[in-house]
Amino acid sequence: MAHQLFLLPGDGIGPEIMNEVKAIIDWMNANLDVSFECDEGLVGGSAYDAHGVAISEEDMAKAMAADAVIFGAVGGPKWADVPYFARPEAGLLRLRKDMGLFANLRPAICFPALADASSLKKDLVEGLDILIVRELTGGVYFGEPKEIVTLEDGQQRAVDTQLYTTSEIERITRVAFDLAKTRSNRVASAEKHNVMRSGVLWKQVVSKIGAEEYPDTPLEHVLADNCAMQLVRYPKQYDVIVCDNLFGDILSDVAAMLTGSLGMLPSASLGAPDAETGKRKAMYEPVHGSAPDIAGKGIANPIAMIASFSMALRYSFEMIKEAEMLDAAVAKVLEKGLRTGDIAKEGDTVVTTKEMGAAVIEELKALA
Ligand code: IPM
Ligand code: MG
Repeated sequence: MAHQLFLLPGDGIGPEIMNEVKAIIDWMNANLDVSFECDEGLVGGSAYDAHGVAISEEDMAKAMAADAVIFGAVGGPKWADVPYFARPEAGLLRLRKDMGLFANLRPAICFPALADASSLKKDLVEGLDILIVRELTGGVYFGEPKEIVTLEDGQQRAVDTQLYTTSEIERITRVAFDLAKTRSNRVASAEKHNVMRSGVLWKQVVSKIGAEEYPDTPLEHVLADNCAMQLVRYPKQYDVIVCDNLFGDILSDVAAMLTGSLGMLPSASLGAPDAETGKRKAMYEPVHGSAPDIAGKGIANPIAMIASFSMALRYSFEMIKEAEMLDAAVAKVLEKGLRTGDIAKEGDTVVTTKEMGAAVIEELKALA
């Protein structure tokens, strides 16, 4: 039976980079023993233009029913003034929340061929392989109250609420430790227990789960600000970093840049396994945004999008062989010196989005 993919290219460079994933899916359907069926919807500004909302109910239902959602990017200056509830990001946040995608996996891997593209010195990032496990459906992103109110004296007051329950922290902690066991088996938990009550609880719960359920996995607690500093000082000290929604947002951008470009970092957002089928709802998206400044020019880097599809192969379909093949094809293309503008340095061959996608397929052919 064919696996059902629901594609949401979104705005800006989203459709351009999604085209390269579509080409890879077509190639896999034709040449490997796999079968994917794709349906496509609108999210973000493109959904707002068509339906007046950041995602329609019909597309929401399709996302809920799919085996995996492949998401491009949302947002852009065109929609700066749309009502807050309908802003492009609301579509993304609704997908995360309604699909229950609490575990966001953001690997930051430095391809050997790209160690020079990092803003850090080569020896600090060469061979870097860290995984940020970000809680994605709680914290200040969703806590209520969340509002701007007018006070009696006429000024306004804005409130966001940082909120975590024991079970929310427990389940993301388990995801982090389980993944650590498949890697270098170390976990660092980042919070701000020195300032925030939610940080105090976070630290307590992570410590307890670590000690009781994962006694063989070393656990370190680090203040989130210090973690940001350590990431640019000596990133290789980390294996898995687990943190809340907001700190994860920030730390993953830092980690992404270590690898040379935001255009390189994929992510997987996973729900809890279904009690009956064991299947998880899942969405795969690049960490970078819609890059409106370069949209439509055909120069965006499709690698984070392609690598996000590779994560789908791995985490939603257990197609480890195919995922490894796709990752190897990307590494090979980089080794050969092909670069989109964002990762190019002087003297490199700069290629377009399409050329980069086509080169990955050429490598797939060679590997198949
Ligand atoms: C991310 C993005 C989103 C977030 C935005 C687009 C809402 O920055 O996925 O990291 O803040 O989570
Ligand atoms: Mg972000």
